[in-house]
Amino acid sequence: MINFKEEIAEKIKKAINIEEDIKNLIEVPPNKEMGDYAFPCFSLAKTLRKSPMIIANDIKENIELSGNIIDRVDVQGGYLNFFINKNILAKEVLSKIDKEKESYGSLNIGNGKNVIVEYSSPNIAKPFHIGHLRTTVIGSALYNINKFLGYNVTGINHLGDYGTQFGKMIEGYKRWGNEYDLNDNPIDKLMDIYIRINNLCKEDENVLEMCRDNFKKLENGDEYCTKIWNKFKDLSLKEFERIYDLLGVKFDSYTGEAFYADKVDDVCKILESKGIVKESEGAKIIDLEDKGLGICMIRKANGSSIYATRDLAAIRYRAKTYDFDKCLYVVAYEQNQYFRQIFEIAKYLDIPEKCVKGLKHVSYGMTRLATGKMSTREGTVVKVDELLHEAIDRVNKVIKEKNPDMENREEEAKKIGIGAVIFNNLCTTLVKDQVFDWDIMLNFNGETGPYIQYIYVRTKSVLEKAGNNVPSFSEIDINNLSDKESLNVIELLYNFQDVLLSVSEKNETCILTRYLLDLAKAYSNFYNENKIITEDENITKARLYLTYATGIVLKTGCRLLGIEMPDKM
Ligand code: ARG
Repeated sequence: MINFKEEIAEKIKKAINIEEDIKNLIEVPPNKEMGDYAFPCFSLAKTLRKSPMIIANDIKENIELSGNIIDRVDVQGGYLNFFINKNILAKEVLSKIDKEKESYGSLNIGNGKNVIVEYSSPNIAKPFHIGHLRTTVIGSALYNINKFLGYNVTGINHLGDYGTQFGKMIEGYKRWGNEYDLNDNPIDKLMDIYIRINNLCKEDENVLEMCRDNFKKLENGDEYCTKIWNKFKDLSLKEFERIYDLLGVKFDSYTGEAFYADKVDDVCKILESKGIVKESEGAKIIDLEDKGLGICMIRKANGSSIYATRDLAAIRYRAKTYDFDKCLYVVAYEQNQYFRQIFEIAKYLDIPEKCVKGLKHVSYGMTRLATGKMSTREGTVVKVDELLHEAIDRVNKVIKEKNPDMENREEEAKKIGIGAVIFNNLCTTLVKDQVFDWDIMLNFNGETGPYIQYIYVRTKSVLEKAGNNVPSFSEIDINNLSDKESLNVIELLYNFQDVLLSVSEKNETCILTRYLLDLAKAYSNFYNENKIITEDENITKARLYLTYATGIVLKTGCRLLGIEMPDKM
């Protein structure tokens, strides 16, 4: 497909004989009347010792317009505004979609490059909370998009399955395990056991000592302790899997913290050999004060490993195992400072430079609940599986009212309800807090997942009305798509790949959600302004084709976000 930005950049370079990087300076003007692309001449003024205005005029005079991809160039102030040939644009885009269908937008820029996305990472025997929902959904979308762009992606669930608390849990289980039926709601019950044993530890030093002893035994591979710990892990994973199934989320690896427990000694040795480790009250620490990053402990006074050291071991292991170019940590903003520390220390781990540079914390904000509007347990803790089921139930009710005879209602309600939750988690800039409000996110006419699904279903029903006879691209006369509304849709279709590239560059899913909303709205305008099935067969074919192409891109975009499309709505 023609890359208009690149073509324009080449023409500019030729026109005034320069070798500067022009492509990255080319902008998209704020409104269409100003052109499709604009080139600001200001940064060239210094090198060329001319005013931006004179440079703009020079380029305009000398630029080669043959080849027809540019219709017109205007000078406005220090800017050059380019109007590209819409006929060529339309042909390019629609023929490409015709050839590539569901893989339109994909690339192999990632060729040979390895990307790790670490996401979800809940803690064993603790609730999967609404923050875990957000990392799960964001990470999964970043996973899909990077893969679509040709990166070799590995998705890792870094389970929180290690730590001294398991010594307590084991003690509690020993004492009261038989009072509970762990087959039903195991996490609630394990939490209950945990609270009980904690209270007992506060009263009785001896019990606390037993707990510490359990953890030591677990570290040394004691059979009984390991067996119970495995039981906690299995029960918890079963619960988490139910959520992952509902969301359609998968992982390539569930290698959690425990896996790194026996690898922390090496990390400590390396760091000590670099002379950056100090002793402080028996513990080992790294002082990062001079970098404004505080103190990071790498080993407790009692010799136990900690969260940070296991993360450092994970970085080393991943560098060796996956030779990663990028390693994304989708973790809440509370751990901003923590990841800065870890990434700073990673410089001393003897791993390749590219791995150190590739470490990236994809931080996201809190989920705020619009109060009183959601089912909560014990006031504040929201159970994620209940929440997902509530989304489905709410949609189910709406459909029952509006479209009582709909086939596969339950199934479609699931796609819409889950889709709404996923979209809601992805559509604000990640660092911002996200508001969870049923009325907003389930609004079929709002800026929501269901709205995009609704427009997609409309493209389907238009094609159905035409007997599902999607014309082939070769039958289309592009001249029938030269009205403003059609062109709007075509331009957006053209931008799809750029949008995906920016998501992967900035790790911001809202770029894609915004794009899909814009595309859905543009199609809706096209649909409102144009009769699609007309007396004129050629016009009908062209409009049906555009409908078909829009449907493909809406569906692909949503699939990458983890949202399935319903057939009916
Ligand atoms: N288990 C942690 C939590 O639930 C998140 C783990 C984040 N990943 C990491 N490599 N530290 O808060």
